[in-house]
Amino acid sequence: MTMNKPYYLTTPIYYVNDKPHIGHAYTTLACDFLARFKRLDGFDVMFLTGTDEHGQKVQEAANKAGTDPRSFTDSVSQNFRDLLGVMNFSNDAFIRTTEERHYRSTQTLWSRLEERGHIRLDKYAGWYSVRDEAFFTETELVDGKAPTGAPVEWVEEPSYFFNLSHWQQPLLEYYQQNPDFIAPEGRKKEVISFVSSGLRDLSVSRTTFDWGIPVPKDSAHVMYVWLDALTNYITALDWHEGAEAFEKYWPADLHMVGKDILRFHAVYWPAFLMAAELPLPKRVFAHGWWTNEGEKISKSLGNVIDPLKLVEEYGLDQTRYFLMREVPFGRDGDFVRDQMIQRINSDLANDIGNLAQRTLSLVFKNLDGVIPAFPKKLQTADAALIEAADGLLDAVRAEMDKQAFHEALRLVWEVIAKANRYIDQTAPWALKKTDPARMAEVLAVLLETIRQVAILIQPIMPVSAARLLDQLLIEEGARDFAVIGGAGRIASGQTIARPEGVFPRFMDEKGEEH
Ligand code: MSP
Repeated sequence: MTMNKPYYLTTPIYYVNDKPHIGHAYTTLACDFLARFKRLDGFDVMFLTGTDEHGQKVQEAANKAGTDPRSFTDSVSQNFRDLLGVMNFSNDAFIRTTEERHYRSTQTLWSRLEERGHIRLDKYAGWYSVRDEAFFTETELVDGKAPTGAPVEWVEEPSYFFNLSHWQQPLLEYYQQNPDFIAPEGRKKEVISFVSSGLRDLSVSRTTFDWGIPVPKDSAHVMYVWLDALTNYITALDWHEGAEAFEKYWPADLHMVGKDILRFHAVYWPAFLMAAELPLPKRVFAHGWWTNEGEKISKSLGNVIDPLKLVEEYGLDQTRYFLMREVPFGRDGDFVRDQMIQRINSDLANDIGNLAQRTLSLVFKNLDGVIPAFPKKLQTADAALIEAADGLLDAVRAEMDKQAFHEALRLVWEVIAKANRYIDQTAPWALKKTDPARMAEVLAVLLETIRQVAILIQPIMPVSAARLLDQLLIEEGARDFAVIGGAGRIASGQTIARPEGVFPRFMDEKGEEH
């Protein structure tokens, strides 16, 4: 048996101060798309997500809800687990920072840092933003607020410090030697310039509240929530117990994060790991933020986008497709309802939906539903389409590996457009009387193209792709990338059922089409 190559990817773990919104769904969706792709491509995937449950922000949210943080986090963490089902996410594990093993893991990491002389006790005096869970100096403030616009409060307390400043040069060297470590390129430049401008030692414990992991041998302190949170990526592999999973999956292939939390992942986390003498992750990708019809999304504006509502209104696979296709991954994007409807009707209902429905209907009506043989000799037009389909996987894989998800999808839709031009040019419906043998060939070429497209869109639209593959009578065991191209080819002789449209046009709540 061949051993599949491991691939470990992670989402950030989400703060449980609030219910899930589009930002959470977006980050996890990007990972889900990639995880499903990698599995079909023969990798042994470990896809991790979870919840970040400590810190002042969560403690305050619990107080506000009139309950203690533990029961509060138990109930809100569940909302995040419910989202996984709603969005059809295929994560292999879900971690909570309130798990007992995470306490042991984080305390082990702390002790390693301390033993190596990278942590010292001192006093912190400066600003703290609870919303960002981050420290700021006076000079970093903008109009008396954090650069993110979040309010800050003055904090003065005994605190342990991590010697972050010591890691400035090693970090810069690491970025230089590993040019793919931070992406996109523009964000990498920001990180490098931030680190180049000098790093201050980082306060890594707090004493003015207690909702966190106690510092070993000094329980007056709880650990800074970001040290606690980042450690989740290795807790999930039970590194502190020397588990096999850690050997196998660490270092992570990819930490997916939003642009707002890149610094924590590309500066603090690698510094902690270097200091603890543990291997560094291979890549951190920072994606952009969504706005809603041009407006910044915020609770106070009341324009928060609820992923559950999107799925309800537009459909699950439709929502997944739109979020990954609409905006070049890495850039900010604007959620515009008309654009969503446009994508549903044009890319999905027209382009792929009609292609499949037209082809399958012709097979059903003109060939008694019997799948025709794939031609031994291809005509020029056939060969052009099949070559394009056969070349897709390599091209799509290259984009997926760069996290250019929109581009990966665009490439697939290019082949769909080619197939639509092919069907218009060859007009198989007109061949029934004049040249039925040629009609059968054309339909076989189309079925083969649809087979490959359907296999390739499984990671983004698992339910719709499965329905298409079912209609094509492709067995469950013949749906991975090993059978893409000439290795697969549509099998002839079986009889399909009456085809059913897989990609409906968008209907509004009055039942009207758009
Ligand atoms: N708990 C930390 C992460 C710790 S990871 C060790 C955290 N949690 S969060 O719940 O606030 O944010 C999670 C993710 O949601 C971030 O990647 C963030 O970028 C993303 N988004 C929040 N709002 C967003 C949009 N409006 N658009 C896109 N993503 C956004 O940070």
